[in-house]
Amino acid sequence: MSPLLKTKDLRIEFRNDDGIWAEALCGVDLSLDPGEVLGIVGESGSGKSIAMMALLQLLPRGARVSGSARFKGQELIGMPPARIRQLRGKSIGCVFQDPLSAFNSVLRIGDQIAEAITLHDRSMSKRDALKEAERLFELVAIPQPAKRIRQYPHEFSGGMRQRAMIAMALANRPELLIADEPTTALDVTVQAQILDLLRDLRKDLGIGMVLITHDLGVVAGIADKIAVMYGGRIVERGTTDDVFYHTAHPYSAGLIGAVPSLDGTGKLQQIDGTPPSIFNRPSGCSFHPRCSQVEEICRMQTPELESVGETDCACHLPLVTRDAKVAE
Ligand SMILES: Nc1ncnc2c1ncn2[C@@H]1O[C@H](COP(=O)(O)OP(=O)(O)O)[C@@H](O)[C@H]1O
Ligand SMILES: [Mg+2]
Repeated sequence: MSPLLKTKDLRIEFRNDDGIWAEALCGVDLSLDPGEVLGIVGESGSGKSIAMMALLQLLPRGARVSGSARFKGQELIGMPPARIRQLRGKSIGCVFQDPLSAFNSVLRIGDQIAEAITLHDRSMSKRDALKEAERLFELVAIPQPAKRIRQYPHEFSGGMRQRAMIAMALANRPELLIADEPTTALDVTVQAQILDLLRDLRKDLGIGMVLITHDLGVVAGIADKIAVMYGGRIVERGTTDDVFYHTAHPYSAGLIGAVPSLDGTGKLQQIDGTPPSIFNRPSGCSFHPRCSQVEEICRMQTPELESVGETDCACHLPLVTRDAKVAE
């Protein structure tokens, strides 16, 4: 089976006001099979969004992109804009954090979804497209779909608007759904409902998904595999279970510690410090200034992503081998 999405050595550079170039994405290899869910996790600024924007050609002008990103074997990097527009919104659906910005506030939501449909399928009448919008509302569990498709974005609550955006992303039956922090702006209860919805869609429609989040808890129950990113690199990669139960990278361990504990104490463990700027990256491993396990080599050499224990990990002193050493 050929992968649905595969990136190889994907790199992105930006230039600052002084004309200095810096790498924001430093060679990212990801792979997703049809129907699989990949969670990309990391704190703000780790390069999660730009990686996905690069393959949809949504980065601002002036960004330098290199490497490869193939969707069903077709190279997306450097694809002519007209062809990428064809893919976007048809074979690849997108959902972002802020659904208000995705909708035009002066048009009825149903009309906007119908337009997204007729744009890619010119043989469909407006009336049939509206019927399809209604069916999609039903699919994403928006109550009273026939009434709701005639309403404007401001008449929807945050959670309902996010459902409507997911409906729009599904309008042309995509094979891949990219959801960038789809639940971040929502309160906890609504967040859980949207995640349930994504889980159901994945099960019922067999859509492949890339789910981007800063919250490992969000991907825990839905992703098949996880890529943990830090400072523009993947620092750990593996199945969801392996990343959780055979954690090799101290950063992933920190993120798992940052997940609210389920024992009711409400305690949060945090990683001290803040992520680096791309123009002022620490030497060696970017995470070393914040790492409680740091040793001399970490300041000197950037670790490669390689197979360690159950996961792939970019760390000179991964936790799994450390445990083994203690056991000896
Ligand atoms: N247009 C831009 N110009 C310069 N730097 C940028 C630009 N867009 C993003 N970056 C930098 O790229 C890095 C990754 O950003 P992003 O992918 O948005 O992070 P994430 O989604 O993980 O929070 C950040 O350090 C950010 O400052
Ligand atoms: Mg982001």
